[in-house]
Amino acid sequence: MEEKFNPKIIGIFCNWCTYLAADLAGISRMQYAANLRISRVMCSGRVHPEFVLWAFKKGADGVLLGGCHPGDCHYIEGNYKALRRYILLKKVIGQFGIDERRLRLEWISGSEADKLRRVTNEFTETIKSLGPLPNRDDIEVDAFDESELKIVEPEYVTS
Ligand code: FES
Repeated sequence: MEEKFNPKIIGIFCNWCTYLAADLAGISRMQYAANLRISRVMCSGRVHPEFVLWAFKKGADGVLLGGCHPGDCHYIEGNYKALRRYILLKKVIGQFGIDERRLRLEWISGSEADKLRRVTNEFTETIKSLGPLPNRDDIEVDAFDESELKIVEPEYVTS
């Protein structure tokens, strides 16, 4: 019998917002997909693109980034930097045949446990529909060129 695909999803969350939302969801005993494994950073701007490429290479089927809403970043504009990288990263992962839906960025504040739950469940369903990540070995972790960031205009994600 064929084994059911149970995706591995890595969440890289800002300490000041999305990580707190995940904590609140846990305290509130909210049920959400158990596929998520969370890694905490002090700001979404700390998420170097190599973290994401490594996650895919080492076994993740999807990567969810979580940061403070625009205007709320504790380091002023770390989330804007994260957004620029995200836009570019989607193109980079495409070069390795990775569907861009496998990477998602969301602004989730510490009080938005319900949004955290909704996004996690939605994302898990998306990744399930895409199936296991193919060709991990082809991913070059240093493929991201930071010098291209200056040409990316951020379009704020407001959902
Ligand atoms: Fe949360 Fe910068 S402190 S995104």
